[in-house]
Amino acid sequence: PAPGWAVEADVVVVGSGVAGLTAALRCSAAGLKTVVVTKARLDDGSTRWAQGGIAAALGEGDTPEQHLNDTLVAGAGLCDETAVRTLVTEGPDAVRRLIASGAEFDRNAVGEIALTREGGHHRSRIAHAGGDATGAEITRALVEAVRDAGIRTVEHALVLDLLKDAEGRTAGVTLHVMGEGRHDGVGAVHAPAVVLATGGMGQVFSATTNPSVSTGDGVALALRAGAEVSDLEFVQFHPTVLFLGPDAEGQQPLVSEAVRGEGAHLVDGDGVRFMLGRHELAELAPRDIVAKGIMRRMREQGAQHMYLDARHFGAEMWERRFPTILAACRAHGIDPVTQPIPVAPAAHYASGGVRTDLHGRTTVPGLYACGEVACTGVHGANRLASNSLLEGLVFAERIAAEIAAFGPHRDGVPVVPGPPSVLPLIEPEKRAEIQRIMSADAGVLRSAQSLDDAADGLEALHLEAVEEYFGKTAEPGTESWETTNLLCVARVLVAAALEREETRGCHWREDRPERDDDTWRRHLIARLTSDRR
Ligand code: SIN
Repeated sequence: PAPGWAVEADVVVVGSGVAGLTAALRCSAAGLKTVVVTKARLDDGSTRWAQGGIAAALGEGDTPEQHLNDTLVAGAGLCDETAVRTLVTEGPDAVRRLIASGAEFDRNAVGEIALTREGGHHRSRIAHAGGDATGAEITRALVEAVRDAGIRTVEHALVLDLLKDAEGRTAGVTLHVMGEGRHDGVGAVHAPAVVLATGGMGQVFSATTNPSVSTGDGVALALRAGAEVSDLEFVQFHPTVLFLGPDAEGQQPLVSEAVRGEGAHLVDGDGVRFMLGRHELAELAPRDIVAKGIMRRMREQGAQHMYLDARHFGAEMWERRFPTILAACRAHGIDPVTQPIPVAPAAHYASGGVRTDLHGRTTVPGLYACGEVACTGVHGANRLASNSLLEGLVFAERIAAEIAAFGPHRDGVPVVPGPPSVLPLIEPEKRAEIQRIMSADAGVLRSAQSLDDAADGLEALHLEAVEEYFGKTAEPGTESWETTNLLCVARVLVAAALEREETRGCHWREDRPERDDDTWRRHLIARLTSDRR
Protein backbone atom coordinates (compact mmCIF):
# COMPACT_ATOMS: atom_id res chain seq x y z
CA PRO A 1 0.00 0.00 0.00
CA ALA A 2 1.17 3.52 -0.71
CA PRO A 3 2.01 5.11 2.60
CA GLY A 4 -0.21 8.12 3.30
CA TRP A 5 2.08 9.60 5.93
CA ALA A 6 5.66 8.94 6.99
CA VAL A 7 7.90 9.39 10.01
CA GLU A 8 11.71 9.39 9.77
CA ALA A 9 13.90 7.60 12.32
CA ASP A 10 17.24 5.84 12.75
CA VAL A 11 15.59 2.80 14.30
CA VAL A 12 12.01 1.60 14.40
CA VAL A 13 11.22 -0.94 17.09
CA VAL A 14 8.10 -2.99 16.40
CA GLY A 15 6.53 -4.26 19.62
CA SER A 16 6.55 -3.15 23.23
CA GLY A 17 7.29 -6.12 25.48
CA VAL A 18 10.50 -6.57 27.43
CA ALA A 19 12.53 -7.00 24.22
CA GLY A 20 11.09 -4.05 22.30
CA LEU A 21 11.17 -1.56 25.14
CA THR A 22 14.68 -2.58 26.18
CA ALA A 23 15.92 -2.24 22.59
CA ALA A 24 14.27 1.19 22.33
CA LEU A 25 15.76 2.41 25.62
CA ARG A 26 19.27 1.29 24.73
CA CYS A 27 19.09 2.62 21.13
CA SER A 28 17.81 5.96 22.37
CA ALA A 29 20.51 6.12 25.07
CA ALA A 30 23.07 5.59 22.30
CA GLY A 31 21.80 8.72 20.57
CA LEU A 32 19.76 6.98 17.86
CA LYS A 33 16.45 8.55 16.87
CA THR A 34 14.12 5.74 17.92
CA VAL A 35 10.42 5.17 17.29
CA VAL A 36 8.42 2.37 18.95
CA VAL A 37 5.31 1.14 17.13
CA THR A 38 2.95 -1.30 18.79
CA LYS A 39 -0.30 -2.94 17.77
CA ALA A 40 -2.41 -2.10 20.82
CA ARG A 41 -1.27 -0.10 23.82
CA LEU A 42 2.31 -0.09 25.05
CA ASP A 43 1.53 -2.51 27.88
CA ASP A 44 -0.70 -4.94 25.96
CA GLY A 45 1.81 -7.60 24.92
CA SER A 46 2.73 -10.99 26.40
CA THR A 47 5.35 -9.65 28.80
CA ARG A 48 2.69 -8.17 31.05
CA TRP A 49 1.24 -11.68 31.57
CA ALA A 50 4.49 -13.35 32.59
CA GLN A 51 4.08 -14.74 36.07
CA GLY A 52 6.90 -16.98 37.26
CA GLY A 53 9.76 -14.66 36.57
CA ILE A 54 13.13 -14.24 34.99
CA ALA A 55 15.89 -16.83 35.26
CA ALA A 56 19.49 -15.80 35.98
CA ALA A 57 22.37 -17.19 38.01
CA LEU A 58 22.05 -14.63 40.80
CA GLY A 59 21.93 -16.90 43.84
CA GLU A 60 24.74 -18.04 46.08
CA GLY A 61 26.42 -21.13 44.65
CA ASP A 62 24.70 -20.78 41.31
CA THR A 63 26.77 -20.18 38.17
CA PRO A 64 26.11 -19.40 34.51
CA GLU A 65 27.57 -22.85 33.76
CA GLN A 66 24.80 -24.57 35.75
CA HIS A 67 22.16 -22.40 34.08
CA LEU A 68 23.72 -23.35 30.74
CA ASN A 69 23.50 -27.06 31.52
CA ASP A 70 19.82 -26.89 32.49
CA THR A 71 19.03 -24.88 29.35
CA LEU A 72 20.85 -27.37 27.10
CA VAL A 73 19.05 -30.35 28.65
CA ALA A 74 15.63 -28.73 28.17
CA GLY A 75 16.54 -27.81 24.57
CA ALA A 76 16.88 -31.53 23.72
CA GLY A 77 20.02 -31.32 21.60
CA LEU A 78 19.05 -28.36 19.43
CA CYS A 79 20.28 -25.34 21.40
CA ASP A 80 23.07 -23.26 19.95
CA GLU A 81 25.56 -23.55 22.81
CA THR A 82 27.28 -20.24 22.04
CA ALA A 83 23.95 -18.43 22.11
CA VAL A 84 23.04 -20.09 25.41
CA ARG A 85 26.44 -19.22 26.88
CA THR A 86 25.88 -15.60 25.84
CA LEU A 87 22.44 -15.63 27.47
CA VAL A 88 23.47 -17.09 30.80
CA THR A 89 26.73 -15.12 31.07
CA GLU A 90 25.28 -11.72 30.21
CA GLY A 91 21.97 -12.46 31.95
CA PRO A 92 22.79 -11.55 35.56
CA ASP A 93 24.08 -8.07 34.64
CA ALA A 94 21.17 -7.52 32.26
CA VAL A 95 18.79 -8.21 35.17
CA ARG A 96 20.75 -5.77 37.35
CA ARG A 97 20.40 -3.12 34.60
CA LEU A 98 16.67 -3.84 34.47
CA ILE A 99 16.53 -3.19 38.20
CA ALA A 100 18.48 0.03 37.64
CA SER A 101 15.81 1.00 35.07
CA GLY A 102 13.26 0.88 37.90
CA ALA A 103 11.90 -2.70 38.07
CA GLU A 104 11.37 -3.81 41.66
CA PHE A 105 11.84 -7.50 42.38
CA ASP A 106 10.72 -9.37 45.50
CA ARG A 107 13.39 -9.54 48.21
CA ASN A 108 14.08 -12.07 50.95
CA ALA A 109 14.38 -11.31 54.68
CA VAL A 110 17.94 -9.99 54.29
CA GLY A 111 17.13 -7.81 51.29
CA GLU A 112 18.56 -10.03 48.55
CA ILE A 113 16.57 -10.83 45.41
CA ALA A 114 14.23 -13.72 46.32
CA LEU A 115 14.68 -16.71 44.00
CA THR A 116 12.38 -19.63 43.32
CA ARG A 117 12.50 -22.82 41.23
CA GLU A 118 10.66 -23.86 38.08
CA GLY A 119 10.65 -26.90 35.81
CA GLY A 120 14.04 -28.06 34.50
CA HIS A 121 16.07 -25.85 36.87
CA HIS A 122 18.26 -27.69 39.35
CA ARG A 123 18.56 -24.52 41.45
CA SER A 124 16.45 -21.67 42.70
CA ARG A 125 17.25 -19.01 40.11
CA ILE A 126 13.95 -17.39 39.17
CA ALA A 127 13.62 -13.76 40.25
CA HIS A 128 10.03 -12.57 40.61
CA ALA A 129 8.06 -9.43 41.34
CA GLY A 130 4.73 -8.79 43.06
CA GLY A 131 4.68 -12.52 43.93
CA ASP A 132 3.43 -13.78 40.57
CA ALA A 133 3.17 -10.50 38.65
CA THR A 134 6.72 -10.30 37.33
CA GLY A 135 5.82 -9.30 33.78
CA ALA A 136 3.45 -6.58 34.95
CA GLU A 137 6.19 -4.99 37.06
CA ILE A 138 8.78 -5.22 34.26
CA THR A 139 6.29 -3.66 31.86
CA ARG A 140 5.45 -0.86 34.30
CA ALA A 141 9.10 -0.02 34.82
CA LEU A 142 10.06 -0.12 31.13
CA VAL A 143 7.03 1.86 29.92
CA GLU A 144 7.84 4.52 32.51
CA ALA A 145 11.50 4.57 31.45
CA VAL A 146 10.56 4.89 27.76
CA ARG A 147 8.23 7.80 28.57
CA ASP A 148 10.88 9.46 30.76
CA ALA A 149 13.40 9.12 27.93
CA GLY A 150 11.01 10.94 25.60
CA ILE A 151 11.01 8.12 23.03
CA ARG A 152 8.33 8.55 20.39
CA THR A 153 5.70 5.79 20.51
CA VAL A 154 2.89 5.00 18.09
CA GLU A 155 0.15 2.83 19.59
CA HIS A 156 -2.64 0.95 17.77
CA ALA A 157 -0.29 0.49 14.82
CA LEU A 158 -0.20 -2.93 13.17
CA VAL A 159 2.98 -3.44 11.19
CA LEU A 160 2.33 -4.67 7.65
CA ASP A 161 5.48 -5.02 5.59
CA LEU A 162 9.15 -4.28 5.46
CA LEU A 163 10.29 -1.49 3.16
CA LYS A 164 13.56 -2.05 1.36
CA ASP A 165 15.91 0.20 -0.57
CA ALA A 166 17.11 -0.44 -4.11
CA GLU A 167 19.83 -2.77 -2.82
CA GLY A 168 17.45 -4.89 -0.79
CA ARG A 169 18.39 -3.34 2.53
CA THR A 170 15.87 -2.47 5.18
CA ALA A 171 14.36 0.99 4.79
CA GLY A 172 11.47 0.93 7.30
CA VAL A 173 8.01 -0.53 7.70
CA THR A 174 4.48 0.17 6.57
CA LEU A 175 1.83 0.38 9.25
CA HIS A 176 -1.91 0.17 9.54
CA VAL A 177 -2.77 2.69 12.22
CA MET A 178 -6.00 2.67 14.15
CA GLY A 179 -7.14 5.51 16.34
CA GLU A 180 -9.52 4.59 19.15
CA GLY A 181 -11.71 2.55 16.83
CA ARG A 182 -11.05 4.96 13.98
CA HIS A 183 -9.45 3.92 10.69
CA ASP A 184 -6.50 6.20 10.05
CA GLY A 185 -5.13 4.43 7.03
CA VAL A 186 -1.68 3.20 6.20
CA GLY A 187 1.51 5.03 7.02
CA ALA A 188 5.21 4.28 7.23
CA VAL A 189 8.23 4.74 9.42
CA HIS A 190 11.32 5.17 7.27
CA ALA A 191 14.35 3.82 9.10
CA PRO A 192 17.46 1.90 8.02
CA ALA A 193 17.18 -0.38 11.05
CA VAL A 194 14.03 -2.28 12.00
CA VAL A 195 13.90 -4.29 15.24
CA LEU A 196 11.13 -6.88 15.29
CA ALA A 197 9.97 -7.53 18.85
CA THR A 198 6.40 -8.50 18.08
CA GLY A 199 6.15 -11.50 20.42
CA GLY A 200 4.59 -14.85 19.69
CA MET A 201 1.88 -16.62 17.75
CA GLY A 202 -0.14 -18.44 20.42
CA GLN A 203 -3.38 -17.23 18.85
CA VAL A 204 -2.84 -19.71 16.05
CA PHE A 205 -4.35 -22.25 18.51
CA SER A 206 -7.82 -22.18 20.10
CA ALA A 207 -6.62 -22.27 23.70
CA THR A 208 -3.48 -20.38 24.65
CA THR A 209 -1.96 -18.42 27.48
CA ASN A 210 -1.10 -15.65 24.97
CA PRO A 211 -3.07 -12.41 24.76
CA SER A 212 -5.17 -11.70 21.68
CA VAL A 213 -2.39 -9.61 20.10
CA SER A 214 -0.07 -12.64 19.69
CA THR A 215 -0.86 -13.39 16.06
CA GLY A 216 2.55 -14.07 14.54
CA ASP A 217 2.76 -10.69 12.81
CA GLY A 218 6.55 -10.46 13.03
CA VAL A 219 7.19 -13.94 11.63
CA ALA A 220 4.72 -13.30 8.78
CA LEU A 221 6.34 -9.95 7.97
CA ALA A 222 9.79 -11.50 8.02
CA LEU A 223 8.69 -14.32 5.72
CA ARG A 224 7.18 -11.85 3.26
CA ALA A 225 10.41 -9.84 3.39
CA GLY A 226 12.41 -12.93 2.42
CA ALA A 227 13.99 -13.56 5.84
CA GLU A 228 14.61 -17.06 7.16
CA VAL A 229 12.60 -18.53 10.01
CA SER A 230 13.61 -21.58 11.98
CA ASP A 231 12.25 -24.19 14.42
CA LEU A 232 8.58 -23.23 14.03
CA GLU A 233 7.52 -26.80 14.79
CA PHE A 234 8.62 -26.36 18.41
CA VAL A 235 5.54 -24.86 20.03
CA GLN A 236 5.67 -25.11 23.76
CA PHE A 237 2.48 -26.12 25.58
CA HIS A 238 2.42 -24.93 29.17
CA PRO A 239 1.47 -27.91 31.35
CA THR A 240 -0.66 -26.11 33.92
CA VAL A 241 -3.25 -23.78 32.46
CA LEU A 242 -6.53 -23.35 34.35
CA PHE A 243 -9.02 -25.71 32.71
CA LEU A 244 -12.18 -23.80 31.82
CA GLY A 245 -13.96 -26.52 29.86
CA PRO A 246 -13.21 -28.43 26.63
CA ASP A 247 -14.50 -25.63 24.39
CA ALA A 248 -12.77 -22.71 26.08
CA GLU A 249 -11.19 -20.40 23.49
CA GLY A 250 -8.70 -17.57 23.42
CA GLN A 251 -6.43 -16.51 26.27
CA GLN A 252 -6.63 -18.88 29.26
CA PRO A 253 -5.33 -18.16 32.79
CA LEU A 254 -1.83 -19.49 33.46
CA VAL A 255 -0.98 -21.27 36.70
CA SER A 256 2.73 -20.57 36.96
CA GLU A 257 5.38 -23.27 37.21
CA ALA A 258 6.49 -21.38 40.29
CA VAL A 259 3.47 -22.88 42.07
CA ARG A 260 5.08 -26.28 41.52
CA GLY A 261 8.45 -24.69 42.33
CA GLU A 262 7.06 -23.85 45.78
CA GLY A 263 5.82 -27.42 46.31
CA ALA A 264 2.44 -27.95 44.61
CA HIS A 265 1.70 -31.48 43.39
CA LEU A 266 0.15 -32.69 40.16
CA VAL A 267 -2.48 -35.32 40.88
CA ASP A 268 -5.01 -37.24 38.87
CA GLY A 269 -8.72 -37.59 39.63
CA ASP A 270 -7.87 -40.24 42.27
CA GLY A 271 -5.36 -37.97 43.99
CA VAL A 272 -2.32 -39.95 42.72
CA ARG A 273 0.93 -38.03 42.03
CA PHE A 274 1.49 -39.40 38.55
CA MET A 275 4.76 -37.53 37.82
CA LEU A 276 6.59 -39.47 40.56
CA GLY A 277 8.75 -42.10 38.90
CA ARG A 278 8.42 -40.53 35.45
CA HIS A 279 11.37 -38.15 35.92
CA GLU A 280 13.94 -37.51 38.66
CA LEU A 281 12.51 -33.99 39.07
CA ALA A 282 8.87 -35.24 39.12
CA GLU A 283 6.57 -32.17 38.82
CA LEU A 284 9.64 -30.01 38.17
CA ALA A 285 10.81 -31.92 35.10
CA PRO A 286 11.25 -29.80 31.94
CA ARG A 287 7.98 -28.46 30.63
CA ASP A 288 7.58 -30.81 27.66
CA ILE A 289 7.95 -33.84 29.92
CA VAL A 290 5.34 -32.58 32.37
CA ALA A 291 2.94 -31.66 29.54
CA LYS A 292 3.35 -35.15 28.07
CA GLY A 293 2.90 -36.73 31.51
CA ILE A 294 -0.38 -34.85 31.96
CA MET A 295 -1.63 -35.73 28.47
CA ARG A 296 -0.77 -39.41 28.96
CA ARG A 297 -2.58 -39.59 32.28
CA MET A 298 -5.59 -37.75 30.82
CA ARG A 299 -5.71 -40.33 28.10
CA GLU A 300 -5.26 -43.31 30.42
CA GLN A 301 -8.14 -42.07 32.56
CA GLY A 302 -10.31 -40.59 29.78
CA ALA A 303 -10.13 -37.29 31.69
CA GLN A 304 -10.28 -33.76 30.30
CA HIS A 305 -7.81 -32.37 32.83
CA MET A 306 -5.61 -33.17 35.82
CA TYR A 307 -5.29 -31.24 39.10
CA LEU A 308 -2.66 -29.07 40.71
CA ASP A 309 -2.94 -29.43 44.45
CA ALA A 310 -1.50 -26.61 46.57
CA ARG A 311 -4.00 -26.57 49.40
CA HIS A 312 -1.13 -27.12 51.84
CA PHE A 313 0.21 -23.61 51.04
CA GLY A 314 -2.58 -22.15 53.18
CA ALA A 315 -4.38 -18.85 52.66
CA GLU A 316 -1.53 -16.57 53.81
CA MET A 317 1.00 -18.02 51.36
CA TRP A 318 -1.47 -18.02 48.50
CA GLU A 319 -2.29 -14.37 49.10
CA ARG A 320 1.31 -13.23 49.51
CA ARG A 321 3.08 -15.36 46.94
CA PHE A 322 0.49 -15.94 44.19
CA PRO A 323 -2.12 -13.16 44.38
CA THR A 324 -2.70 -13.03 40.60
CA ILE A 325 -3.31 -16.76 40.24
CA LEU A 326 -5.46 -16.84 43.38
CA ALA A 327 -7.66 -14.06 41.98
CA ALA A 328 -7.91 -15.70 38.53
CA CYS A 329 -8.91 -19.06 40.03
CA ARG A 330 -11.46 -17.48 42.35
CA ALA A 331 -12.90 -15.47 39.45
CA HIS A 332 -13.65 -18.85 37.83
CA GLY A 333 -15.16 -20.38 40.95
CA ILE A 334 -12.11 -22.38 42.14
CA ASP A 335 -10.57 -21.65 45.54
CA PRO A 336 -7.02 -23.10 45.52
CA VAL A 337 -6.82 -22.74 49.30
CA THR A 338 -9.49 -25.41 49.70
CA GLN A 339 -9.67 -27.11 46.27
CA PRO A 340 -7.19 -28.67 43.84
CA ILE A 341 -6.98 -26.58 40.64
CA PRO A 342 -8.15 -28.24 37.39
CA VAL A 343 -5.35 -27.83 34.81
CA ALA A 344 -4.54 -28.91 31.26
CA PRO A 345 -1.82 -27.95 28.77
CA ALA A 346 -2.38 -25.01 26.37
CA ALA A 347 -0.22 -23.32 23.72
CA HIS A 348 2.26 -21.02 25.44
CA TYR A 349 5.46 -20.15 23.60
CA ALA A 350 7.02 -20.31 20.14
CA SER A 351 10.53 -21.64 20.66
CA GLY A 352 11.31 -20.92 17.00
CA GLY A 353 10.93 -17.73 15.01
CA VAL A 354 12.90 -15.37 12.79
CA ARG A 355 16.43 -16.70 12.55
CA THR A 356 19.10 -14.41 13.99
CA ASP A 357 22.77 -14.43 14.84
CA LEU A 358 24.25 -13.44 18.20
CA HIS A 359 23.70 -9.75 17.40
CA GLY A 360 20.03 -10.19 16.55
CA ARG A 361 20.68 -9.81 12.81
CA THR A 362 18.28 -11.65 10.52
CA THR A 363 19.15 -12.73 7.00
CA VAL A 364 17.82 -9.40 5.63
CA PRO A 365 20.34 -6.57 6.11
CA GLY A 366 19.06 -3.99 8.60
CA LEU A 367 16.29 -6.25 9.94
CA TYR A 368 16.82 -7.43 13.53
CA ALA A 369 14.65 -9.61 15.79
CA CYS A 370 14.57 -10.24 19.54
CA GLY A 371 12.26 -11.77 22.10
CA GLU A 372 9.71 -14.46 21.26
CA VAL A 373 9.57 -13.54 17.56
CA ALA A 374 13.24 -14.43 17.20
CA CYS A 375 15.02 -17.74 16.98
CA THR A 376 18.42 -16.95 18.49
CA GLY A 377 19.18 -20.60 19.14
CA VAL A 378 18.89 -20.43 22.94
CA HIS A 379 15.73 -22.51 23.25
CA GLY A 380 16.42 -25.40 20.90
CA ALA A 381 13.51 -27.83 20.85
CA ASN A 382 12.03 -26.64 24.14
CA ARG A 383 12.54 -23.42 26.09
CA LEU A 384 13.60 -23.68 29.72
CA ALA A 385 11.12 -21.97 32.05
CA SER A 386 11.69 -18.24 32.61
CA ASN A 387 14.45 -17.97 30.02
CA SER A 388 12.21 -15.90 27.73
CA LEU A 389 12.21 -12.57 29.60
CA LEU A 390 15.97 -13.01 29.98
CA GLU A 391 16.43 -13.69 26.26
CA GLY A 392 14.38 -10.58 25.42
CA LEU A 393 16.58 -8.45 27.66
CA VAL A 394 19.97 -9.80 26.66
CA PHE A 395 19.46 -9.88 22.91
CA ALA A 396 17.67 -6.50 22.81
CA GLU A 397 20.74 -5.00 24.44
CA ARG A 398 23.01 -6.76 21.96
CA ILE A 399 20.98 -5.42 19.01
CA ALA A 400 21.17 -1.86 20.34
CA ALA A 401 24.93 -2.21 20.81
CA GLU A 402 25.26 -3.55 17.26
CA ILE A 403 23.23 -0.75 15.65
CA ALA A 404 25.03 1.88 17.72
CA ALA A 405 28.46 0.46 16.88
CA PHE A 406 27.99 0.21 13.15
CA GLY A 407 25.53 3.03 12.73
CA PRO A 408 22.29 2.71 10.86
CA HIS A 409 23.18 2.35 7.21
CA ARG A 410 22.16 5.34 5.06
CA ASP A 411 23.27 5.92 1.50
CA GLY A 412 20.50 8.11 0.15
CA VAL A 413 19.16 5.40 -2.17
CA PRO A 414 15.46 6.10 -2.51
CA VAL A 415 13.02 3.76 -0.89
CA VAL A 416 11.32 1.47 -3.33
CA PRO A 417 8.06 -0.20 -2.40
CA GLY A 418 8.49 -3.55 -0.69
CA PRO A 419 6.92 -6.69 -2.05
CA PRO A 420 3.20 -6.13 -2.48
CA SER A 421 1.50 -6.56 0.85
CA VAL A 422 0.10 -10.01 1.08
CA LEU A 423 -3.06 -10.52 -0.87
CA PRO A 424 -5.65 -11.80 -0.70
CA LEU A 425 -6.55 -10.68 2.78
CA ILE A 426 -8.26 -13.37 4.82
CA GLU A 427 -11.71 -12.66 6.26
CA PRO A 428 -11.56 -12.27 10.09
CA GLU A 429 -14.29 -14.95 10.41
CA LYS A 430 -11.72 -17.55 9.28
CA ARG A 431 -9.64 -17.04 12.41
CA ALA A 432 -11.68 -19.50 14.50
CA GLU A 433 -11.38 -22.12 11.76
CA ILE A 434 -7.59 -21.76 11.61
CA GLN A 435 -7.45 -22.16 15.40
CA ARG A 436 -9.75 -25.18 15.36
CA ILE A 437 -7.62 -26.91 12.72
CA MET A 438 -4.38 -26.18 14.55
CA SER A 439 -5.61 -27.30 17.96
CA ALA A 440 -7.21 -30.46 16.61
CA ASP A 441 -4.41 -31.58 14.30
CA ALA A 442 -1.18 -29.76 15.12
CA GLY A 443 -1.39 -29.38 18.92
CA VAL A 444 0.38 -31.24 21.73
CA LEU A 445 -0.06 -34.58 19.96
CA ARG A 446 0.72 -34.82 16.25
CA SER A 447 1.06 -37.51 13.61
CA ALA A 448 1.64 -37.57 9.86
CA GLN A 449 -2.09 -38.14 9.41
CA SER A 450 -3.21 -35.28 11.66
CA LEU A 451 -0.65 -32.91 10.18
CA ASP A 452 -1.70 -33.84 6.65
CA ASP A 453 -5.27 -33.04 7.67
CA ALA A 454 -4.14 -29.70 9.10
CA ALA A 455 -2.19 -28.86 5.93
CA ASP A 456 -5.22 -29.70 3.77
CA GLY A 457 -7.57 -27.63 5.93
CA LEU A 458 -5.28 -24.60 5.85
CA GLU A 459 -4.69 -24.95 2.11
CA ALA A 460 -8.45 -25.01 1.55
CA LEU A 461 -8.81 -21.77 3.51
CA HIS A 462 -6.07 -20.21 1.44
CA LEU A 463 -7.60 -21.32 -1.87
CA GLU A 464 -11.03 -20.09 -0.79
CA ALA A 465 -9.51 -16.71 -0.07
CA VAL A 466 -7.76 -16.64 -3.45
CA GLU A 467 -11.05 -17.41 -5.19
CA GLU A 468 -12.87 -14.78 -3.19
CA TYR A 469 -10.11 -12.34 -3.99
CA PHE A 470 -11.02 -12.36 -7.64
CA GLY A 471 -14.52 -11.32 -6.60
CA LYS A 472 -13.85 -9.11 -3.63
CA THR A 473 -11.12 -9.15 -1.00
CA ALA A 474 -11.59 -8.76 2.75
CA GLU A 475 -11.74 -5.17 4.01
CA PRO A 476 -8.25 -4.06 5.06
CA GLY A 477 -8.16 -3.71 8.82
CA THR A 478 -6.38 -5.07 11.88
CA GLU A 479 -8.50 -8.21 12.07
CA SER A 480 -8.11 -9.22 8.45
CA TRP A 481 -4.36 -8.52 8.54
CA GLU A 482 -4.03 -10.58 11.71
CA THR A 483 -5.98 -13.47 10.26
CA THR A 484 -3.83 -13.33 7.13
CA ASN A 485 -0.71 -13.52 9.31
CA LEU A 486 -2.15 -16.40 11.35
CA LEU A 487 -2.81 -18.42 8.22
CA CYS A 488 0.68 -17.68 6.90
CA VAL A 489 2.49 -18.82 10.07
CA ALA A 490 0.16 -21.80 10.59
CA ARG A 491 0.99 -23.15 7.13
CA VAL A 492 4.75 -22.86 7.68
CA LEU A 493 4.45 -24.36 11.17
CA VAL A 494 2.50 -27.37 9.91
CA ALA A 495 4.94 -27.91 7.03
CA ALA A 496 7.84 -27.99 9.50
CA ALA A 497 5.97 -30.30 11.91
CA LEU A 498 5.24 -32.69 9.04
CA GLU A 499 8.84 -32.69 7.90
CA ARG A 500 10.34 -33.43 11.34
CA GLU A 501 9.69 -37.14 11.56
CA GLU A 502 10.72 -37.70 15.18
CA THR A 503 9.70 -36.71 18.68
CA ARG A 504 11.95 -34.10 20.26
CA GLY A 505 11.39 -31.48 22.94
CA CYS A 506 7.93 -30.02 22.58
CA HIS A 507 7.35 -31.57 19.13
CA TRP A 508 5.53 -34.81 19.88
CA ARG A 509 4.89 -37.11 16.92
CA GLU A 510 2.79 -40.07 18.01
CA ASP A 511 3.72 -41.93 14.83
CA ARG A 512 7.45 -41.30 15.47
CA PRO A 513 7.72 -41.57 19.25
CA GLU A 514 11.53 -41.70 19.45
CA ARG A 515 14.15 -38.98 19.25
CA ASP A 516 16.31 -39.59 16.17
CA ASP A 517 19.69 -37.93 16.60
CA ASP A 518 21.15 -39.50 13.44
CA THR A 519 18.73 -37.74 11.10
CA TRP A 520 17.17 -34.91 13.03
CA ARG A 521 19.79 -33.21 15.15
CA ARG A 522 19.39 -30.23 12.87
CA HIS A 523 17.17 -27.24 12.34
CA LEU A 524 14.43 -26.77 9.80
CA ILE A 525 14.75 -23.41 8.11
CA ALA A 526 11.96 -21.90 6.02
CA ARG A 527 11.96 -18.98 3.61
CA LEU A 528 9.21 -17.95 1.22
CA THR A 529 10.43 -17.88 -2.33
CA SER A 530 9.57 -14.67 -4.18
CA ASP A 531 6.59 -16.21 -6.01
CA ARG A 532 5.00 -17.26 -2.66
CA ARG A 533 5.44 -13.92 -0.87
C1 SIN B 1 5.31 -19.66 34.33
O1 SIN B 1 5.25 -18.80 35.20
O2 SIN B 1 5.07 -20.86 34.51
C2 SIN B 1 5.71 -19.25 32.97
C3 SIN B 1 7.16 -19.14 32.93
C4 SIN B 1 7.63 -19.24 31.52
O3 SIN B 1 6.83 -19.42 30.59
O4 SIN B 1 8.83 -19.18 31.33
